[in-house]
Amino acid sequence: MPRSPFAAGKRYDPRAMARQYVHLDSRTLAYFDSAPGDHEAPVLVLIHAFPLGAGMWEGQVKALPEGWRLIAPDLRGFGGSTIAEPDDNPSIDDYATDVIDMLHHLGIERPVVGGLSMGGYVAMAMLRRAPVIARGVILANTRAGADSSEGRANRRGMLAVLDREGASGVAREMMPKLLGTTTLDTRPDVEPFVRRLIKQQSPGAVRGAVQRMMSRPDSMSTIAALMVPTLIIAGDEDVLTPQDDAGKMAAALPMAELVVLPRTGHLSNLEQPQLFNDTLRAFLSRL
Ligand code: MLT
Repeated sequence: MPRSPFAAGKRYDPRAMARQYVHLDSRTLAYFDSAPGDHEAPVLVLIHAFPLGAGMWEGQVKALPEGWRLIAPDLRGFGGSTIAEPDDNPSIDDYATDVIDMLHHLGIERPVVGGLSMGGYVAMAMLRRAPVIARGVILANTRAGADSSEGRANRRGMLAVLDREGASGVAREMMPKLLGTTTLDTRPDVEPFVRRLIKQQSPGAVRGAVQRMMSRPDSMSTIAALMVPTLIIAGDEDVLTPQDDAGKMAAALPMAELVVLPRTGHLSNLEQPQLFNDTLRAFLSRL
């Protein structure tokens, strides 16, 4: 896992998250794994936001209760994962299928499945395809609803920026919305880290993600049927997925716990790592 500004001055253990690869038919999926080959450990799968990669989860290894294993895949085309060619008819289900296939390949049953924003859309698509796959669910800074027509128009604008300027243009457009005002004002280390993660992504990966997000269906009925403990995390400064969205999901879910993190924007695990990790650890410890 790349060294991040967050590790500066601290002892960095490169074994904490080993990059692994799984070959699935025509594609290769890369993932970070905190305990490769440990078949006894309960597993937490965390799925990344747009347009980042699995590297955004490096700070969550230390949130794991004793004995847990964290697996964080790079979605199709992101990080070390390949794009399946041809990438026709892109659907959010492609990402869900990749992660489900990866879990089968690794012999992992009933993990806790979590995702932030786009990662949450993927987690919900996994639950639609395999309703009993998870023993617990974490939905951070995400929403169950599909894109509005205005949202889809914005995504078409994003595709035009991508064509003109590549991932750097997307980083410039996204940054003011990804981070909360408190983070932008007080945590100068976070923005360069996020910008670097975005710039590492290929235009093909970013394009595929935009197309998949804009065609995703509404997932409210999927999550309303969930009968496992579910942690919903929101940030009070999140402008992309405001806390009202989190409230609607929590109200629809039979076994949900809603935690709104203070002074936190959209990338809650990067902006408030201590609060995020405390919340995550408490939830996993109760399962
Ligand atoms: C994300 O953070 O994954 C994106 O902001 C999600 C979206 O654009 O809907």
